[in-house]
Amino acid sequence: MKKDELSLSDVFKCTYDKFDNGVLLVSAGSDGRKNIMTIGWGLIGILWREPVFMVAVRDSRYTHELIEETNEFTVNIPGDDIGEAIKLCGSVSGRDHDKFKETSLTAVAGKNVQVPIISECLLHFECKVIGKTQATPEKLSEEVLQSCYPRDDFHTLYYGKILSVYGEEC
Ligand SMILES: Cc1cc2nc3c(=O)[nH]c(=O)nc-3n(C[C@H](O)[C@H](O)[C@H](O)COP(=O)(O)O)c2cc1C
Repeated sequence: MKKDELSLSDVFKCTYDKFDNGVLLVSAGSDGRKNIMTIGWGLIGILWREPVFMVAVRDSRYTHELIEETNEFTVNIPGDDIGEAIKLCGSVSGRDHDKFKETSLTAVAGKNVQVPIISECLLHFECKVIGKTQATPEKLSEEVLQSCYPRDDFHTLYYGKILSVYGEEC
């Protein structure tokens, strides 16, 4: 059963475990364009006295463009039943695909952000960007540069204040 509000400690392990197979990041443009992208990297913690979800989005992604416009995103933790959707959202771009339509996933209005959540997912984090940093060559070790950036397609790390987390404890 879904709960209206959960604590971060209730959901931390489940969220961490799900990252292995990809979780779903939703973004939207200022005119309501909405998009889903699969992410495999992220952190939850406390920063600047706030609970924060950090996501790493390469600058080439459509998602990057949309987060830049609205400074908001939601992170949605899937169950085991939407593997195909995770694959699609991680392999095509919202620039030329309507991923909500193609996956038949349902966008539901967020409580505290303009960006929707995905109702089929178990858990939802609503986040407002309160800081961002650029992963650039001089800030990274040679090992990370070689393994993660062979094409110089660097990430922006977005620090989203967690405004609310709700759904099913897993
Ligand atoms: C399992 C998995 C994890 C991924 N993790 C990330 C990630 O953390 N950051 C990122 O920028 N791209 C990641 N990607 C790639 C994007 O999901 C993919 O390029 C997507 O098509 C971008 O969509 P967009 O252009 O609509 O934003 C991942 C893909 C998969 C399959």
